[in-house]
Amino acid sequence: MPKLSPSSYALQLSAASTLTKTLRCNLPTLSHFNYIDYSNFYEPSDDTFLMCDALSLDMPSHSPKRILELGSGSGCNIVHAACLCSPESCFALDVNPLAVEATLKTWEANEIEGVEFTVHRSDLLGKGTEAWWPSIDCVIFNPPYVPTPDEEVGGEGIEASWAGGEDGRRVIDRALPDIWKLLKVGGVLYMIVVDDNKPLELINKHSEEYGVEGSVLVRRQARNEFLSVLKMVKTR
Ligand SMILES: C[S@@+](CC[C@H](N)C(=O)[O-])C[C@H]1O[C@@H](n2cnc3c(N)ncnc32)[C@H](O)[C@@H]1O
Repeated sequence: MPKLSPSSYALQLSAASTLTKTLRCNLPTLSHFNYIDYSNFYEPSDDTFLMCDALSLDMPSHSPKRILELGSGSGCNIVHAACLCSPESCFALDVNPLAVEATLKTWEANEIEGVEFTVHRSDLLGKGTEAWWPSIDCVIFNPPYVPTPDEEVGGEGIEASWAGGEDGRRVIDRALPDIWKLLKVGGVLYMIVVDDNKPLELINKHSEEYGVEGSVLVRRQARNEFLSVLKMVKTR
């Protein structure tokens, strides 16, 4: 697969920023949480909402039947995905046990019918998830992407929501090879990144090593961060 050049990547960023200005989707209900809950797991924020916009824009075109969210937090994204395209099954994983409980509450509060749902605690795609390889059509991942000292990575509480280590890439780099094993050929990963994560380098590395085709789908500035959703398609 040819490398994505810096100039083509810059064009993608610009097109994605323009497109994103027109997007603002309806979100699942989250009224079952209060501000105290959000001291225990990640409060939906600009990155969560950008992911929901990306899913609304792109997911209906390929109607995935089996969807997995890695790091589901409040459950906002996986519930949004289930409402969008009526899949057969949804799976959600989080390392934070209170996020696992929160995801289940959001699923139940939104009264989704006819979709099989499993949520459990897991350190990325750890033990017990091998049985799903390679059967998933779509993975949603809003990782801990903030650059921090490496020592801050690896917790199981609220700090796991953001601590990404060097370049904010420690958790991302550990997760991606297993995500390619989990996805079917033709399956899609939607992943949040910030510019500090070096997305162009990431796209080209995974294109070369795993035959994954990556592009920038949507992009929005939120305070001091430039957030993008990458769409990465497994081609072999
Ligand atoms: C930025 S938050 C995103 C939460 C939610 N998906 C959203 O968009 O609002 C990152 C999530 O990843 C989870 N997480 C971090 N490290 C993880 C790991 N090693 N395995 C599974 N989940 C992890 C965190 O607990 C947190 O819920």
